Amino acid sequence: MMRTVANALVASGLLLAPAAADSCQTPINHPGTAFSNVQPLNTTILDPYGHSPAVYPSPNTTGIGGWEEAMAKAKAFTAQLTLEEKAWMVTGQPGPCVGNVLPIPRLNFSGLCLQNGPQGIEEGTYSSVFVSGVSAAASWDRKLIYDRAYAIAEEHKAKGTHVILGPVAGPLGRSAYNGRSWEGFAADPYLTGVCMEETIIGFQDAGVQANAKHFIGNEQETQRNPTFDPNANATTYIQDSVSSNIDDRTVHEIYMWPFANAVRSGAASFMCSYNRLNGSHSCQNSWALNHLLKTELGFQGYVMSDWGATHSGVASIESGMDMTMPGGFTLYGEMWTEGSYFGKNLTAAVENGTVDMSRLDDMVIRTMTPYYLLGQDQDYPSVDSSVGPLNVDSPPDTWLYDWTFTGTSNRDVRGNHSVLIRQHGAESTVLLKNENGALPLNAPKSIAVFGNDAGPITQGAYNNVNYEYGVLPNAGGSGTCRFSSLSNPLDAITRRAEQDGALVQSWLNNTLLTTTALPDLWIGQLPDVCLVFLKSWAEENKDRDSLDLDWNGSAVVEAVATYCNNTVVVTHSNGINVLPFADHPNVTAILAAHYPGEQAGNAIVDLLYGKVNPSAKLPYVMAYNESDYNAPVTTAVQTNGTYDWQSWFDERLEVGYRHFDANDITPRYEFGFGLSYTTFSLSGLSGNSSASNLTALPPARDTMPGGNPALWETVYTIKADVTNTGGVAGYAVPQLYAGFPDSTPEGTPPSQLRGFDKIWLEAGETKTVTFDLMRRDVSYWDIVAQDWRIPSGAFTFNAGFSSRDFWANSTVVLL
Ligand code: BGC
Repeated sequence: MMRTVANALVASGLLLAPAAADSCQTPINHPGTAFSNVQPLNTTILDPYGHSPAVYPSPNTTGIGGWEEAMAKAKAFTAQLTLEEKAWMVTGQPGPCVGNVLPIPRLNFSGLCLQNGPQGIEEGTYSSVFVSGVSAAASWDRKLIYDRAYAIAEEHKAKGTHVILGPVAGPLGRSAYNGRSWEGFAADPYLTGVCMEETIIGFQDAGVQANAKHFIGNEQETQRNPTFDPNANATTYIQDSVSSNIDDRTVHEIYMWPFANAVRSGAASFMCSYNRLNGSHSCQNSWALNHLLKTELGFQGYVMSDWGATHSGVASIESGMDMTMPGGFTLYGEMWTEGSYFGKNLTAAVENGTVDMSRLDDMVIRTMTPYYLLGQDQDYPSVDSSVGPLNVDSPPDTWLYDWTFTGTSNRDVRGNHSVLIRQHGAESTVLLKNENGALPLNAPKSIAVFGNDAGPITQGAYNNVNYEYGVLPNAGGSGTCRFSSLSNPLDAITRRAEQDGALVQSWLNNTLLTTTALPDLWIGQLPDVCLVFLKSWAEENKDRDSLDLDWNGSAVVEAVATYCNNTVVVTHSNGINVLPFADHPNVTAILAAHYPGEQAGNAIVDLLYGKVNPSAKLPYVMAYNESDYNAPVTTAVQTNGTYDWQSWFDERLEVGYRHFDANDITPRYEFGFGLSYTTFSLSGLSGNSSASNLTALPPARDTMPGGNPALWETVYTIKADVTNTGGVAGYAVPQLYAGFPDSTPEGTPPSQLRGFDKIWLEAGETKTVTFDLMRRDVSYWDIVAQDWRIPSGAFTFNAGFSSRDFWANSTVVLL
């Protein structure tokens, strides 16, 4: 399985890596004795925990998986390039987009425009802001996720984007405090894998390249990049970026899993991450890029660096990175325009024989194959000039190339996407509590609206700060967007309440609410319902300090609920919050609305008034206490050694609900949980083997994108009957969890999501749901065999409506 494991082949050629000698040759010692009694770690090559084996050379693309024709065109294009042109094809340049590949007019190539981000166009005017990644995951709805992606990509394409910098499977959500988990999907590889797949297919069906990011182990923002010495040149570190130290089994079963779905669904490109992985920078980690991604998963596209994540020339190139972004040495600052590890240094490296021309050719061919595959050479929209001035990554005063623009500026690309976004906002909001018939609202005549998250945004349309007043429909960093229009809850409620002739009062000042007795504030008698809107901010480059709601939100709920016996709480949040007020008897309903994008107000009104029946489910765990979560972000590095930032993933497979299950911790609201205005039952579980002569290891087959194709074949099918037992129609989300046999190595989580569906049921209706289990779903990663192995013995499959709400089970021996 393993490609040639060469000795420090590249380390000797670090001509172009002045400050970044690859640390992959230096094993780091784990401070504790973690896993000494677990499956033997065989050799350091097989299990890279704490160090990264060197794996060279970087495999050439072959175009397998249907890319052959496009690859032939890419080869023909590459053959016409000069050495210098080839080097610039893989070296970003400042320009109108967040990432730019220069045009080559003599070949009719107008360059590549790479844009943020996964929730809509960061640099967009007259463009839509869609629901966030965590919202999409909370819908548990494959079609919704695909439709969202297709619509996002339509807008990007109309603005001239060739590559959307997303979707995100890293962070996966190891730590509850991660600042970017809302950009990604679920704290579970299976659900995230499905989201990656649907999103990438959606983007690329619309004609825009997807970029699966951030590969791999990008699980904290803190020290994600090295700290640089301000008095030295921009490549001298004070301390290197954090190293995510992850064992081989965990890499495969948790962090790489959704990226395998990404490759299988044809992702054009990957972004290597800021962090180090097992001691070696992700963008010069030959084990991750050459071995895992390009060999084991058979990835045929190109790997670009995260912005400023390149720390060497030759070492990165030989390790499998194909394109450096944004191009210059560092992310921001003078060095941007003055030099690059690639660019002229790359032409020099080819000329002096350090880098073989065939490697550079492969980098360009990998870049251009998806371009031809998606027909981006045919009548592709030009870059809308309005994106340039909004580009915070390379503002116009940094541009070196004389960019020219054609076509209309400030194109309105929204179409009727607001309809879709409104629907998606409602279908990704999780109803966590609903007592005393609080919801849906029944034409209340007196409504009070509270909280600083209820009203219009008050600090402009680019919500990149944690402003005090205004609804929070997405969060900060490169994944944010500019709002061309935004529906806020207070406006939407006021408009809806007019239909009932209701009185609507509002108090949006949290400080006032927590310092003044409420009866002194409101008009007349107790409102029929008190709607409290609260928020929780998250942003790139910073992890969260606390899981509480911001702006004293919990105290606002206590203050309102002290007087109002029908208090309904709505949160706009990146996801995980501790909700200390959840058991308060006067808090009758709670809704987690995540970051729903531009239709935040209309979407929540649709749910509150029952126009939409809630159907979303938590894609993470809501715990009682912050201390119930494991794997906190590594922060307390007190020493100042260059490589002292080490994050040991000692919890191994115990990520998210796996940790709660394995350690018997009761969550407040478990993974997969969410209420509806109706109720469901599930029964009649039955199973059927789809494979004869099943073998423990997959039959050897030629690798295709996604790895051995046998891993993706259905080996067992489970069916169950789901009935709507309540009084209204709605969506059920039946879920299937696998308990692996006792023969599986120690550390296997008690229960893991391995199937789900979302089905519409009229009141009283029953439908049969089918869960197809692929070979990978019933295998664990055997570090000795370096392959996926189906364990012998009995599996227990539990089906139900959350990770803790099981209605039927079946015991199955596959081998
Ligand atoms: C982020 C990427 C983003 C890039 C370009 C980086 O800081 O990590 O996700 O696409 O910037 O803005």
